[in-house]
Amino acid sequence: MLKKLFNFKNKVVLITGCNGQVGQAILNLFLRLDANVYGIDITKPKSKYNFNFIKCDITNQKSLKKTIEKIIYKEKTIDILINNAGISTFTNFKKRTEKELDKIFKTNVVSVINLIKHYVIMFDKKKLKKGNIINISSIYGFLSPDFKIYSKGDRFSPEIYGASKSSIIQLTKYYAVLLAKRNINVNCISPGGLLNKKLQSNGFISRYKKRVPMNRMGQSSDLLTTVIFLASDSTEYVTGQNIIVDGGLSLK
Ligand SMILES: NC(=O)c1ccc[n+]([C@@H]2O[C@H](COP(=O)([O-])OP(=O)(O)OC[C@H]3O[C@@H](n4cnc5c(N)ncnc54)[C@H](O)[C@@H]3O)[C@@H](O)[C@H]2O)c1
Repeated sequence: MLKKLFNFKNKVVLITGCNGQVGQAILNLFLRLDANVYGIDITKPKSKYNFNFIKCDITNQKSLKKTIEKIIYKEKTIDILINNAGISTFTNFKKRTEKELDKIFKTNVVSVINLIKHYVIMFDKKKLKKGNIINISSIYGFLSPDFKIYSKGDRFSPEIYGASKSSIIQLTKYYAVLLAKRNINVNCISPGGLLNKKLQSNGFISRYKKRVPMNRMGQSSDLLTTVIFLASDSTEYVTGQNIIVDGGLSLK
């Protein structure tokens, strides 16, 4: 029974931002589980597995529409849609520009709305029976960063990133209710800070670690069982939830 519940063989999975730190981990997870994976990004990731890469800028609505139609016409469905792509900025908030605000909000929020819109249009057109959407938010969608842990040059979480990520938590609840009658589950994962030695200073890593009850930063691999849990048929009665994967940081 467990094997059946967690069987992703030939399931059609679409993941945005598949060339990023988290995206690559999720992409490879579903490829290892023999799913039929489509990855969207601006640049193609290297993977030892074969998968369907679609070069698509998710802020371009025409391109998004075409991508969704192409997959559903070919595969007849998209079983699991993972809204993972996200961006930020690291400039001082006093120097924030309209251009930065527009780009981050468009990538992190508007693209998710557009992708879900085109997915549901095709879902209805093709009279699909079941769907599953997983959105990736962040603990900064409901928490303020602790500015004491950032030194000069450290990449901190800016106001617009938090605002965009809190929108994702709210949109998850909105779509969970709106799409429930179509049998589409919509859930969200909010990761804490993930270790990235190329981008983070040793000082930042050690200051961040001290705040985490589990005493470490996260890894992309820490998110994978939550992805599987939400993507599986075993959780078809779970919808609108935000699962926090942060080593306990947000509990204090
Ligand atoms: N890394 C962390 O510490 C962390 C923590 C919490 C939440 N998150 C969230 O996890 C998700 C993935 O983050 P990550 O750390 O892997 O980031 P990343 O920068 O490593 O990857 C993001 C990917 O999205 C792609 N992308 C950006 N704009 C795009 C566009 N317009 N069209 C198509 N693709 C686009 C990028 O090319 C990149 O491959 C994001 O939503 C982020 O907010 C990350």
